[in-house]
Amino acid sequence: MTTSIQRITSLSEEISGKTKIITDYLSSKGLEAASFDVNGLSEYPIPPQDEIPFKARLELIAATKELHDLALGPKEGLRYLAWDSVNSLSLQALWEFKVAEAVPLAGMISYEDLTKKVRELNDNLEIPMLNLRRFLRHAMTNRIFREPEKGYVAHTRSSRLLLQDDALASWVGFMSHDLWLPIANVVNAMKKWPASEESTETGVNLAYNQDLPWFDFIQKDQTFSKRYNLAMQAHGGGEGFAAKHTVDGYPWGELGDGATVVDLGGNQGYISTAIAEAFPKLKFIVQDTAGMRTPETLGKVPDGLKDRVSLTTHDFFTPQAVIGADVYFFRWIFHGFADKYCVKILKALVPALRKGSKVVINDGALPEPLTAGYIEERSMRTMDLFMQVTVNAREREVGDWEVLFSRADKRYKFGRAWKPEKSRMWFIEAEWTGDE
Ligand SMILES: C[S@@+](CC[C@H](N)C(=O)[O-])C[C@H]1O[C@@H](n2cnc3c(N)ncnc32)[C@H](O)[C@@H]1O
Repeated sequence: MTTSIQRITSLSEEISGKTKIITDYLSSKGLEAASFDVNGLSEYPIPPQDEIPFKARLELIAATKELHDLALGPKEGLRYLAWDSVNSLSLQALWEFKVAEAVPLAGMISYEDLTKKVRELNDNLEIPMLNLRRFLRHAMTNRIFREPEKGYVAHTRSSRLLLQDDALASWVGFMSHDLWLPIANVVNAMKKWPASEESTETGVNLAYNQDLPWFDFIQKDQTFSKRYNLAMQAHGGGEGFAAKHTVDGYPWGELGDGATVVDLGGNQGYISTAIAEAFPKLKFIVQDTAGMRTPETLGKVPDGLKDRVSLTTHDFFTPQAVIGADVYFFRWIFHGFADKYCVKILKALVPALRKGSKVVINDGALPEPLTAGYIEERSMRTMDLFMQVTVNAREREVGDWEVLFSRADKRYKFGRAWKPEKSRMWFIEAEWTGDE
């Protein structure tokens, strides 16, 4: 057997083996597999604790993807890859025109009746039946809606999600609509502003012809910012980004009784609260922008934690005022900024640091090429591109974090970087070796 034939043969055997692990597991528990049937399961009921089937599914995804790509071959594969950008077009059109709302959950609807309903949902905008049908029939090749009988449309489990899962529908709208033109403008932005590290010189700025940084821009429009926030829930809702990895993944218990953690950009304090619940000897000072602090949000700290978790206001680009805390903690902050701004954030800490103070970062990190599984590799590389699209920032490899600390101040001693098992986020730790 030649090497190329061996590869497709061994992939098909691997696929059959992994599928058996998953189906044996599901059958033994009386569970279903995910399915596109409108009443099927939208995701696999396999928790990460059940490691063998959980891992088998990730490996199955990687193996089927490779076999699919090999079955196409490089030439056909590249051809399809390039024109598959229209996946976003059909998705955007269905989302924008609220087609999921117009299709009954049970049964089916003719294209003619559907067109009437879709027009009603869109202030009687003239949407030709032919256009609607072509978007639908394209989306159907992605298993979004189906045509059970010629001329009639019915839901699948995927299209039903567009109707019933607000966070996921917002994710779809955000990616296929809000970021559609920005993506198309990234290369133009690189030409207009070569090597820019500014969050005001991005594909978003060109696409929307405006000069605000991303967050200021989306906050100007309530609908846009609400959609963004919901979309981020769909993203953060992924198992690998769960707060429990932040709670369990760092040796918080070793910090000592009464140790203080300053949580910079800590939002409404939900991460500090989760850590505080698990470690009753620690105190948390959560800092965020003034806009985050309203009477309603300030009331969000549970009663039993109010003496250990305080929500305060601080801009992390300005000198830190909480002096000599044990830990200065940043979760999901640095990946939103280009290097020069990360260096600025680390410099702004310096006046507050005392010998032994730790800086702990919990953030994405790019795996060394080809060291992670397919899903993780792919999602981190995708995230890295989106950071360029929106804010000219980037995801970092372990070595990049070390460089950031040393550019900020030589008195930072880079410690270690690790990824708790099953987490998609890393911990990166440095210690201040300067004055007492
Ligand atoms: C991606 S969120 C991360 C929130 C939280 N740390 C977490 O892990 O979910 C970024 C946070 O940084 C805050 N932020 C942005 N610019 C800031 C600044 N200059 N100073 C303080 N906080 C800031 C935002 O308001 C937001 O809450």
